[in-house]
Parts: sequence; structure tokens; C-alpha cells
Amino acid sequence: MSSEKVYRASTTAPVNIAVVKYWGKRDAKLNLPTNSSLSVTLSQDDLRTLTTASCSASFPASEGDSLLLNGSPSDISGARTQACLRELRARRAALEAADPSLPKLSTYPLRLVSENNFPTAAGLASSAAGFAALVRAVANLYELKDTPSELSKIARQGSGSACRSLFGGYVAWRMGDKEDGTDSMADQVAEAAHWPEMRALILVVSAAKKGVSSSSGMQQTVATSGLFQQRITTVVPENMAIMENAIAERDFEKFAEVTMRDSNSFHATCADTYPPIFYMNDVSRAAIRAVEAINEKAGRTVAAYTFDAGPNAVIYYLEKDTEAVVGTFYHALQGADITGWKNESIKELKCGISLDENVAALIKGGVSRVIMTSVGEGPAPTEEFLVAEDGTPA
Ligand code: DP6
Repeated sequence: MSSEKVYRASTTAPVNIAVVKYWGKRDAKLNLPTNSSLSVTLSQDDLRTLTTASCSASFPASEGDSLLLNGSPSDISGARTQACLRELRARRAALEAADPSLPKLSTYPLRLVSENNFPTAAGLASSAAGFAALVRAVANLYELKDTPSELSKIARQGSGSACRSLFGGYVAWRMGDKEDGTDSMADQVAEAAHWPEMRALILVVSAAKKGVSSSSGMQQTVATSGLFQQRITTVVPENMAIMENAIAERDFEKFAEVTMRDSNSFHATCADTYPPIFYMNDVSRAAIRAVEAINEKAGRTVAAYTFDAGPNAVIYYLEKDTEAVVGTFYHALQGADITGWKNESIKELKCGISLDENVAALIKGGVSRVIMTSVGEGPAPTEEFLVAEDGTPA
């Protein structure tokens, strides 16, 4: 009956939010970037993907590989997912060739089942956690010995930002310069424990309609923006160096300034794209004004905003400044039906500052949910399985 055995491996993987942004591909097929980037991995207590990878000789070959995502069958025929699965299989096949006693898992269909612990509709970077979890789960299933950096080269082909979700803490994706992409991978700049006080407040801003996807948006920027050239040759290399230093020294003021400047620079290249791309809206800009007001009142930089390819604001701050940062938003949002405030003690926070009326009104009218989280750990294996021992979805 051994050929009937269902092999399973489960892992969780985190979301990451960049403080030096990846924006631009130099090779769309291999998903190689025009610049390096750096991110903070967010705690999986609040945002994570759980993925079980399973395979068995008993799964009918006609079924092929499949993915059930948040309860619904998901199309995995796309080139990116196929590239990930092909590379993982090839590595398993190499192990099997070297050791004929190993079961031929590389020849069995894969059943993948995946769930996010946060609403997909929130427009958060679910593809990063998703591809990182997929690659990590299959690598565990296949008992691959590859390091997280090696695996990051596979995840990168699923979604660029996913390569950074293979690590916890503070993570860099080095662009590399080889044509075949073998040196374009992620590494850990610092563990979460190096600077555990880092917090993130995510303001989920509802967008009227879905904007331009990052993949196509960045291609348009590369093709049409003049400003973009300066970003990749000068701005980002400088930001990477200052950011790595700021993290090493736990210098929040420097960390914050680079985070905000880099987000501004990225969105400036979007505005310089022809036709222009706008990801931020009035609510996003009100969040920027609020952060500026908070910092001004504090007399130092206690909060840093950053925006990805959508209107949500991610605000980094240190635990000690929770009152000034979270208190301000809590009070601005009071009366609005908002979920996500972490605990009751938040209600005891005195108002950090009171915001300009228009800024407060925009925030109150446009933020639909908040997520309070912190820097966190990388993927971890788990005994929670989304595929039962008999191979059916659990
Ligand atoms: C703005 O990783 O989603 O979030 O490689 O095409 O899948 P693809 O793009 P993706 O782009 C993320 C862009 C960003 C910045 C960042 O995360 O660094």
C-alpha cells in the first residue's frame, strides 16, 4: 500500500511591506528587477497564508496539479505558477536521481490547498505570502535542502515581492546582474528580534475600482518614465545603503525618512508614467498629512507612511510611540464602524493629537478597517493540515 500513501507538508508564510520599493522589471520572463528592494516582514499572527502541499501515486494523473485557494479552485496554468512548480519538481527529480531509494514524488500530481487569515478583498499583498507559502510548502514536501535564499529565486518567479516573504525580520532582495537571474535573490538583513519594537498600522482604504496591477503598472513605468531612470540609478541605491545602516543601528528617524521618501519617489515615477498611474487617493494623502502632523507635534519622527500599488496606508512606528501614532488615528476614526483595533487598552489611549478637520473627515470617511501588527518571523512548518490523510481537502 506504500504507493497509496499521501505525502503532506504544511507551512505558513508572512506578508511583507517594502520600505525601499521594487518597481520595474529588467526581464519579465525571469521576473528580474531593475533595482534592489528592502522590506519588513509582518507578524503572521495578523497576516499569513497557510498552505498544505500534498502528493500521492493514488492521485489520478488525469487530475494534474491543483490549487484550492480560500475554498475555491484556482487557476494554476499561468506561466508564473508553472515556473515555480517546474523548478521545484526539477530539484526533487535531481534528488531522486541521486538516490533511487527515494519515492518518486516528482512524478505525482500535486494537490495544494491554501488559506489566508485576512480578507483578500482588503487589497493587501496576498500574492507575496501566497507564492512564498506555495514554494516553501512544496520544498518541504519534496524535502529539498535548498536554503531560503535559493528558494527565494523560485518564489521570485511567482511574484517578485514573494522572494522577500521567505524570511522574517528585515529582508533585502538583491537585484543581481546576471542575465539568467541566478544572483537575484533575497537575504535577511536583520532578524525580527534585532529590532522587535517595530510596529505597523495598516489603514485599509476602500478603492472605488481596482487600479492597474503592479505587473503591468511597472512595465508601463519602465517604458515611459524619464524620472524612473534616476530612481533606479541614484535614488534606490542610496536608499538601500541608508536603510541597511538605519536598521543595523535601530535608527528610527533615518528608517522613517527613507521609507517615506522612497514611497514618494515610487509614486512620483507612477505619476511620471505616460499615461500616469495613480495608486493613492484623497484618503491616502490625508493619511500622509496625519503622519506629518503627528511627527510635527512629537518634535521628532515617530511615524512613517508607505504605499504600495493601491490606496492602503501602512504606517511604521515604534511600540513606545503607540499613543501618539495609534491614538491619533483611533480618535480620528471614533464613531466609524472599524474593526481591527487590537485590544481594549487602545480605548484608554489619549488622543495623540487632533487632526485638521478635513484630514480627519477624509480618514473617517475612507478607512474601512485597520490592522495593527508588528515585525514578525518567516515561514514556519505547521501540523495544521488543509489536506486530510486520505488526500481530500480537510
Ligand atoms: C509596489 O511583487 O506584486 O508592492 O513581480 O509583477 O508579481 P510582480 O509584482 P509584485 O510588485 C510589488 C510592488 C510593490 C513594491 C514592493 O513590494 O516592493
